[in-house]
Amino acid sequence: MTHPANGSTNSERVVIFDTTLRDGEQSPGASMTLEEKLEVADLLDLLGVDIIEAGFPIASPGDFESVSEVARRVKNATVAGLARASEKDIDRCAEALREAKRARIHTFISTSPVHMKYKLQMEPERVLELVASSVTRARNHVADVEWSAEDGTRTEIDFLCRCVETAIKAGATTINIPDTVGYTTPTEYEALFRMVRERVPNSDKAIFSVHCHDDLGLAVANSLAGVRGGARQVECTINGLGERAGNAAMEEVVMALKTRHDALPYHTNIDAKLLTRASKLVSAVTSFPVQYNKAIVGRNAFAHESGIHQDGMLKNTHTYEIMTPESVGVSKTSLVMGKHSGRHAFREKLKELGYDLGENALQDAFNRFKDLADRKKFVYDEDLIALVDDEIVTAHDHIKVLALMVMAGTQGPQSAALTLDIDGDKVTHQATGNGPVDAIFNAIKALAPHEATLELYQVHAVTEGTDAQAEVSVRLSEDGKSVTGRGADPDTLVASARAYVSALNKLILKRGRAKPEAMQAV
Ligand code: KIV
Ligand code: ZN
Repeated sequence: MTHPANGSTNSERVVIFDTTLRDGEQSPGASMTLEEKLEVADLLDLLGVDIIEAGFPIASPGDFESVSEVARRVKNATVAGLARASEKDIDRCAEALREAKRARIHTFISTSPVHMKYKLQMEPERVLELVASSVTRARNHVADVEWSAEDGTRTEIDFLCRCVETAIKAGATTINIPDTVGYTTPTEYEALFRMVRERVPNSDKAIFSVHCHDDLGLAVANSLAGVRGGARQVECTINGLGERAGNAAMEEVVMALKTRHDALPYHTNIDAKLLTRASKLVSAVTSFPVQYNKAIVGRNAFAHESGIHQDGMLKNTHTYEIMTPESVGVSKTSLVMGKHSGRHAFREKLKELGYDLGENALQDAFNRFKDLADRKKFVYDEDLIALVDDEIVTAHDHIKVLALMVMAGTQGPQSAALTLDIDGDKVTHQATGNGPVDAIFNAIKALAPHEATLELYQVHAVTEGTDAQAEVSVRLSEDGKSVTGRGADPDTLVASARAYVSALNKLILKRGRAKPEAMQAV
């Protein structure tokens, strides 16, 4: 049996297990379409991620399909699927992973007193039996099996050690002790790994893994502490996406190990120069904006505002920069092209920004670039990224915005005349509303009737200046599920219409790919 961490000649290599497509997608409103998931999986593979957790195959037919597609397509990384400790879950997971070059089944069960008593309603001895039977069943399908003790950090240590020993005996090759509720502290988590590895007699037969949630803002610190305690796999997500406050952010873990190699002598296989691009892609497809002051990938992460800092930077960048923007793939904001730039130059620029579009997508993006260059004096890298991300997200949409005319101002009622393309049918409606955005949303509702509730409407500017593109996020919820759509355009109202329609398209896909009656063009 080989394992990425064991295979390395350097014993201090840390394996990166990315769960953006599973734990990240569980974040309310962060759902992705199949095409978006494939786009993210391709980039994770390029980044050098060792294991991509692609989803939870038993959860829905859509999840099953996306795990199978990712498994079929990924070239280098191991593809993992999640399964509860049940035969049905594990068999379905194995089926989804059938075409993977390297497959891992990740099975889990809760081990803490509170979870066993209230959630599982099982006695500890029954849980122990399930640990053995679930890992055994998974091992009958694949050689690479990860077992997780859900709520591991609130589990009694003696019981945790018995579970870990049982899982390894049954054939688990990776043991994950998650901090499911973001409760632990760095000192405690490091000690936990040391203790479990010391007390479990067969602990040397498996790789130990950290999986931390950020409820107290400690996910990255706890993950690094777990590594110090002997874990050699870190489970994380791009932008720290994930349940509640999220998971440990991959970019922060990777750059902490790189920048403070003196204090943390471990390395990963991640190509850090792709971290910014990965952050932007995940933000675009989930429509989750990245906090401006977010470490590593936030817009202000390398900005120096005060005079004293700027003066220091001009004299020597080491005065205020512990890593270079280039090391994480940030290029200086630059004027890219004007309206006279050709298709060839456009394609080259996109390549430089890390995009490799197919012919049709390239042509569509080029048309939008020409339109943008006509309307906006300076077109920056950020403008192109917003435009192309928008194109990727909308390429397979059922509903598209074709035209919009708005009457706004002090004299109400404000109105919007909107034309949509709904599965090839061109439909128009004029609606009024309490302000132009309300009028647009009412027009969309009339053309594509639905019961979804608007949960969030948010606008931000992509670059500076009054002609900057607006990036709008809209979150809709229906039957307890929420989705977020995003739209970009120099006209805030057009961006708003695009964002609402993008969210609606995601809802249609969430309903199971069948186009419901209510969505027929009227
Ligand atoms: O947070 C958690 O415990 C999980 C497990 C399924 C690994 O996500
Ligand atoms: Zn989790």
